[in-house]
Amino acid sequence: MRPISRRQALLLGGLGTAAAAAGGTGLVWSLSSRPGPTTGSSLGQPQELRSDAGKLQVRLEAAAAQVQLGGRQATALGYNGSVPGPTLRVRAGDVLKITLANSLSQPTNLHVHGLHVSPENNGDNVFIAVGPGSSFDYEYQLPGNHPPGVYWYHPHHHGMVADQIFAGLFGAIIVEDPDPIQASAERLLVVSDTTLDPAGKISAVSLMDRMTGREGDLLLVNGQGNPLISAVPAQRERWRIVNACVARYLRLRLDGQKLELLGRDSGRFEKPQEVEELLLTPGNRADLLVTTAAGESVLRTFRYNRGSMAGMMGAGPAPGGATDGTEGAVLATFRVTGESAAPPPAVPAQPAHADLRQSTVAAHRQIILFTGMGMGGGGMMRFTINGREFDAGRTDTTAAAGTVEEWTLVNTSPMDHPFHLHVWPMQVLGDNAPAGSSPDWRDVVNIPANGQVKVRIAFADFRGRSAYHCHILDHEDLGMMGAIEVR
Ligand code: C2O
Ligand code: CU
Ligand code: CU
Repeated sequence: MRPISRRQALLLGGLGTAAAAAGGTGLVWSLSSRPGPTTGSSLGQPQELRSDAGKLQVRLEAAAAQVQLGGRQATALGYNGSVPGPTLRVRAGDVLKITLANSLSQPTNLHVHGLHVSPENNGDNVFIAVGPGSSFDYEYQLPGNHPPGVYWYHPHHHGMVADQIFAGLFGAIIVEDPDPIQASAERLLVVSDTTLDPAGKISAVSLMDRMTGREGDLLLVNGQGNPLISAVPAQRERWRIVNACVARYLRLRLDGQKLELLGRDSGRFEKPQEVEELLLTPGNRADLLVTTAAGESVLRTFRYNRGSMAGMMGAGPAPGGATDGTEGAVLATFRVTGESAAPPPAVPAQPAHADLRQSTVAAHRQIILFTGMGMGGGGMMRFTINGREFDAGRTDTTAAAGTVEEWTLVNTSPMDHPFHLHVWPMQVLGDNAPAGSSPDWRDVVNIPANGQVKVRIAFADFRGRSAYHCHILDHEDLGMMGAIEVR
């Protein structure tokens, strides 16, 4: 059975259903390790828009929206009036056309995070600004071999990205598997956080919060606080999880259930990998199989210490600590009862992921992520890559199309930074990936405080200009971004 979308629920049910569909508990995540609030309504799903005959054409209007967030009436921003926006389901080889209509009072634009599509012209071009009252027609041609997975879309107008996402502008994109993987239910869980003021408006954040990377008080799954997910035992469910938080790392557990990771960010492991705990930095996604076992399980996120600038700033709380104590913060409740179902058929073998470990490397680069006091005084904290703040008019890195590069991502600061490269995914090298192990591909890679990570990138298929940045989006807005041109 496919759960009805929230939009359908709203259309079908009138007011009573609307309140229930949007999650009725009205909680504010303010205290630490208390048990989560009692679960409210069932997990809703954003409206789904599917491609047909190789094409999906949609209109997304970014506008102020009156929505329920965690059961509270909120004045947020949404695509087509909802948070998250509609889910776009496409296939490799499809054309995705999106008309972005800007009904905000400020500029915005659109980025399709993780999709391997052209960054030029009206493709995934983050250098375009769409002014208030105007619209722009994006067109993305997915290659015929585009990896399946869960991706997402969000604004990318430099300086306003964190605020616009924190206010509700995000949605999921699913690239279907060429060979369907049977599941009794497919669920999308877009995890976000935000903070509402007493009037239900999205709270403004301080410069200190931006420097640390803001974490909202309200922890949401598809806009709901602790929704209920119901299932029967011995089934296989497919859960796609997106971390759409501006800065919060998710360290997820669903104790009592068997979790297998089909893939992370994009593509598939050859065989599903059993996991107990899953770290998703901002921007990361997980494509999971959940084999159900009778009982009640709670999807929680545990505190992840991503470091802080406390030492440098003289004060300030460590991030990640306020809302999720040792027992973790509750995201959703999973109730498994009833008759066992027939065991699911085996997962079809997946084509092997590309592996660049034996490739010839055309260039080695060092990318240095720096946070700290600027040289030459002024007392301002700076967020730089290779010593410079982002400048849209400057190209920081030039790579040759058709080559493989090795980048050493160095973090010289006392806090973690999740590094993201547009268009071209990264294969993580190093101790965690001994030869012969399954290749580890990501489009957001965590670079631990005072640590470094090596990645390889194949600049295949596309030329053009795009960006890399820290996916703590406050840091990106503060300048921790660079422009890359592949030619
Ligand atoms: Cu999810 Cu450049 O972003
Ligand atoms: Cu991106
Ligand atoms: Cu950062």
